[in-house]
Amino acid sequence: METTTAKLNGDVKDIALAEKGKRKIEWANQHMPVLQLIRKQFIKEQPLKGVRMSACLHITSETANLAITLRDGGADVVLCASNPLSTQDEVAACLVKDYNIPTYAIKGEDNSTYYGHIMSALDHQPNITMDDGADLVTTLLTKRPDLLGNVIGGTEETTTGVIRLRAMAKDGTLKYPIIAVNDALTKHLFDNRYGTGQSSIDGILRATNLLIAGLRLVVAGYGWCGKGVAMRAKGLGADVIVTETNPVRALEAVMDGFRVMPMVEAAKIGDVFITVTGNKSILTHEHFEKMKEGAVISNSGHFNVEIDIPALEKLSSGKKPVRPFVEEYTMKDGRKIYLLGEGRLINLAAAEGHPAAVMDMSFANQALASEYMVKHANELQKQVYSVPELIDRQIAKLKLESMGVQIDKLTPDQEQYLASWDEGT
Ligand SMILES: NC(=O)c1ccc[n+]([C@@H]2O[C@H](COP(=O)([O-])OP(=O)(O)OC[C@H]3O[C@@H](n4cnc5c(N)ncnc54)[C@H](O)[C@@H]3O)[C@@H](O)[C@H]2O)c1
Repeated sequence: METTTAKLNGDVKDIALAEKGKRKIEWANQHMPVLQLIRKQFIKEQPLKGVRMSACLHITSETANLAITLRDGGADVVLCASNPLSTQDEVAACLVKDYNIPTYAIKGEDNSTYYGHIMSALDHQPNITMDDGADLVTTLLTKRPDLLGNVIGGTEETTTGVIRLRAMAKDGTLKYPIIAVNDALTKHLFDNRYGTGQSSIDGILRATNLLIAGLRLVVAGYGWCGKGVAMRAKGLGADVIVTETNPVRALEAVMDGFRVMPMVEAAKIGDVFITVTGNKSILTHEHFEKMKEGAVISNSGHFNVEIDIPALEKLSSGKKPVRPFVEEYTMKDGRKIYLLGEGRLINLAAAEGHPAAVMDMSFANQALASEYMVKHANELQKQVYSVPELIDRQIAKLKLESMGVQIDKLTPDQEQYLASWDEGT
């Protein structure tokens, strides 16, 4: 396969894939009505005129539509991958060839290429950084602090990135304001729950072609993503078991009708495991030792640290790929354990990530948060900020309109009732 030359401004797998990428980007666009409306407004108002943006996101057809929207709003955008396995090579090719948006991303790139691509995106000298997991900010702060003078702010897409950035803000390492797009209700209630729920199961199905009905499926973490995965697995007929460390979330899982138990117990009986905690070492040697013959393990949390792969390697006498994204590990006692997608986000590694209809809302938040950052950066501190409620409501309203759903409006009398303390006495 040929790599693009520097003159095409980017580094993608094969520029000849562009046509396939274009069809994919246009298909996604049809399912992103809110972003379409924002794009129209951006074309007219040019809120990002002259703003240099570097975005480290999963390079998918939905991200392409976000990049095009930002560009149409006047921004000078470059993209790099936020995960070595999540790039859709045809989309990356099309962004470079047809939309002239420099893109540095190759599916399956090794770690040094991955960070090399982040460095290339930083060479763009961004005014705004856009992250999914905070690798761009972290690399900027540690390896290219000379660029800080140009930066007015950034946005962050996912739970793990927000946790990292809040930790940085707390110890004073964060050097510019960030808007936590993940914290918008129109992001995590929909993307994390319905998006990750459906697409993680989709990834497991595409990799294994298993029948979910009748399987014992263990979900580690009953956060927004875990709730979605558990709900969809139940819908397909799985016997869902949840593991948690937070008693409130564990109780919620019990009340939602799931069995809850410690992972050491679940390890003995699970057929399929999926980790979505945002934490590390969820499946370790003590669990691999107890797993049944043929257990399938996967992760949909942001980093590939939820499954202790070095421990799995240590316990096994050999490994071999048996299907795309399925690695068979033979344990020293003869049992086989199947690891999906190298322990990386299974919905992006083996499937296509979230459906466009979900990313429509997440990326509407990204676009409007960027506009907000340009307008308000001087008023903001070196902290992590939530998306203003007004933006959340605006996105929900536009989405409902696009779905043809109408809702009631508070009457002035009701507004007054809700605002006063002496009503109802
Ligand atoms: N696959 C995707 O496309 C996708 C989409 C959005 C978010 N994410 C990622 O998924 C992860 C989870 O996100 P979320 O929004 O659900 O977070 P969340 O904070 O809502 O939920 C995480 C849950 O995991 C639990 N947990 C922590 N340590 C645990 C342990 N040792 N055992 C069992 N449970 C444990 C926490 O108590 C919490 O309830 C993050 O890494 C996030 O970045 C992935």
